[in-house]
Amino acid sequence: MADSYNGIPVPADGKAITWADGKFTIPDNPIIPFIEGDGTGRDIWRAASRVLNAGVEKAYGGKRRIVWYEVLAGEKAFRQLNTWLPDDTVNACRDFRVSIKGPLTTPIGGGIRSLNVTLRQTLDLYACLRPVRYFQGVPSAMKHPEKLNVVIFRENTEDVYAGVEWKQGSPEAQKVIDFLNNEMLKGGKKQIRPDSGLGIKPISVFGTKRLVRKAIQYAIENKRRMVTLVHKGNIMKFTEGAFQEWGYEVAKAEFRDQIVTERESWILGNKDANPNLSVEDNALAIEPGLGMAPEDYRKKAYAEVKGVLDALYASHGNGAWKKKIMINDRIADSIFQQVIIRPDEYDVMATPNLNGDYISDACAAQVGGLGIAPGGNIGDQYAVFEATHGTAPKYADKDMVNPGSVILSGVMLLEFLGWNEAAKLIEDAMEQTIQQKTVTYDFERQMEGAKKVKTSEFADYMIKNMDALKAAAR
Ligand SMILES: NC(=O)c1ccc[n+]([C@@H]2O[C@H](COP(=O)([O-])OP(=O)(O)OC[C@H]3O[C@@H](n4cnc5c(N)ncnc54)[C@H](O)[C@@H]3O)[C@@H](O)[C@H]2O)c1
Repeated sequence: MADSYNGIPVPADGKAITWADGKFTIPDNPIIPFIEGDGTGRDIWRAASRVLNAGVEKAYGGKRRIVWYEVLAGEKAFRQLNTWLPDDTVNACRDFRVSIKGPLTTPIGGGIRSLNVTLRQTLDLYACLRPVRYFQGVPSAMKHPEKLNVVIFRENTEDVYAGVEWKQGSPEAQKVIDFLNNEMLKGGKKQIRPDSGLGIKPISVFGTKRLVRKAIQYAIENKRRMVTLVHKGNIMKFTEGAFQEWGYEVAKAEFRDQIVTERESWILGNKDANPNLSVEDNALAIEPGLGMAPEDYRKKAYAEVKGVLDALYASHGNGAWKKKIMINDRIADSIFQQVIIRPDEYDVMATPNLNGDYISDACAAQVGGLGIAPGGNIGDQYAVFEATHGTAPKYADKDMVNPGSVILSGVMLLEFLGWNEAAKLIEDAMEQTIQQKTVTYDFERQMEGAKKVKTSEFADYMIKNMDALKAAAR
C-alpha cells in the first residue's frame, strides 16, 4: 500500500479495510476513497458526506467514523493531472477495497478508459446491485408503490455487454459471418445476412453461478424470502436458459438446507395437504397435462416427484419448506408485468446483464425514485458504490439537485460494512424529510404543498430528523 495516491497523502487517522480467506475486516475508522464526481457531483458529495458522517456519529456516538479519502477521476483529474482516470485512483479503490463515486462526465471524443469498465475489470466487480424500495411521500405513478421492495443482482461481466462485437461491413464481421454461414450453419435453413453487424452473447457456468450464489447469500444474510432467476430461456436456450439451469444447480448444491425451489414446494405442499397422495397423482397436480404426455415424459415427472420426496420430505416436509428461501424463475418479459401487477410477490432477483439493466430502471421508475436510486458494483474482494444518475451539468454548482442517490449509495456502503444502525437511521431520516415535504426541485414540482429546498438544506433537514429519530427511540 502506498502512502499517497495522485500526490494526496493517505489520511493518518484511518485504517484500511482488509480481506483474507473470504472475509473483510472492518476497522472502526476505515479509510474510504471517494470520487466526488463532475457537474452536480460536487454539490451532491458535499451534502451526502455530511449526512453520512452525521448518521455514523449519531448511531455510534463517535466510536465509529469513516475517514474519507479523496481520489481523483473525471474532470478534476483531467485538470490536475491531465488524465481522466489516473492509475492511482484505480489502485486506491483496490488497496482500500470499498469506495464510493459520484457521477462522472463521459468525455467527448472517445478513446479514453471508462472508470466503470476499468474498475469492473480490475476489481472483478461481477455483481451490479440495485435495491429498489419506496420512500413514503415520493411522487410515483403507481397506486401502491410501497408494495415493491426488491434487490436486483445484475451480472456485470458477460452477456451481450461483454463487448465482443464487430461492426457491419468490417473485415472482421465478414470473417465471422463467412465462418458461421460456411461452416456452422452450412446446409441448414439459417444463414446470417451478409450486411449484418454482430455481437456475441457469452453466458458461462462460472459467471452465472457466482452471481446467483451472491444473490442467495444476500437473501440469507438479509432475511429475504425469495430469489427469482429472471431469464429469457424460452428463446435463448443455451445462454439465458442455461443461466436458469445453472442458477438452480448452485442453489441446490450449495444451499440445500436453506432453500426450496418453486417446483419442490408444490410437490412438498401436495404431500403435506394429502399424506396418502401417490407419486403419480402428485405429478399430475404439478403438471395437469401429464395424462396426455408421452410415456417417457410421464416417467420423468414421476421420477422427479419421487426424487424430491425421498431426498427432501424429512427435512423440508410438514410445512418446513415454507420457512426456506424460495428459488423460482420468471421469463424476462413477464417480470415487467409481474412487478407492476404483483409487486409484493418479488424480492431478490438474479439476472443476466441486459435484463438487469432494463429491469433495474423499470423498478426504480415504479417507486418514483430514478433520481434517488442507489447502486453498487460488488465482487468477492471489492465494492464500489455509486449514484445511478449522470452529472446533470446544467444544474452544476447551483446547490439545487437531489443528493438522494449518493446518500442511499452511501447507505448501501454502510450496510456492506455491517454498520446497519447508521444505515437505518439515515434511511429513516430521508423518508421523514420527504414526508415533511422539504425536498429538492425535482420532487417539489411533483408534490402538492411541498417546500423547495437546496441540496445543502435537504442535508440539514435530514440531519435534524436524525436527532428527532434518536430522541424518539430513547
Ligand atoms: N454513472 C455515471 O457516471 C453516469 C451515468 C449517466 C450519465 N453520465 C454522464 O453524465 C452526463 C449527463 O448525462 P445525462 O444528461 O444523459 O443524464 P443525467 O442523469 O445527468 O441527467 C438527466 C436529467 O435528470 C435529472 N437529474 C439527474 N440527476 C439528478 C439529481 N441528482 N437531482 C435532480 N435531477 C437530476 C436532470 O433533470 C437532468 O437534466 C454525461 O456526460 C453522461 O455521460 C454519467
